[in-house]
Amino acid sequence: MTAPLLVLVGPMGVGKSTVGALVAERLGCVFRDTDDDIVAEQGRTIADIFVDEGEPAFRAIEKRAVRKALAGHDGVLALGGGAILDEDTRALLAGHRVVYLSMDVEEAVKRTGLNVARPLLAVNPRRQWRDLMEARRHLYTEVAGAVVPTDGRNPEEVAQAVLDAV
Ligand code: S3P
Repeated sequence: MTAPLLVLVGPMGVGKSTVGALVAERLGCVFRDTDDDIVAEQGRTIADIFVDEGEPAFRAIEKRAVRKALAGHDGVLALGGGAILDEDTRALLAGHRVVYLSMDVEEAVKRTGLNVARPLLAVNPRRQWRDLMEARRHLYTEVAGAVVPTDGRNPEEVAQAVLDAV
């Protein structure tokens, strides 16, 4: 059984995929994203899964994808922003090196705007971001061994901060 060198968690739009790919490049390993695994396995977009089956069904699919990736990947792994909502997933992360990429609400609104491809932000992004961050911030902190703030930093700077933190 293999384990990721590093797992990135944090809200959608924080740059987990961009930063994760940069960190993997610098470490000379492979980057993997559980959202991509889900799309490949399901043959449809995440937005389509939400619309067709609803969030609970998506979370069940996501939980399986995270479990599989944690046991079968030895590079850098990024999790979808809501993966940490699941208690079993949080427990599984306890044995891994996890970095939380954080951003404040205004930065989140600026970066994602009204992005209909992200089903959780389809209406009133500012209020939804505030609620989302309030509900999840402590969960990201709970699973992470290090927090890297991304506000006002470009992906290269964030990638360097991640490497410095681990
Ligand atoms: C979600 C984040 C998304 C994706 C889905 C739900 C969330 O992943 O899994 O839209 O609940 O925050 P990214 O964080 O990779 O955008």
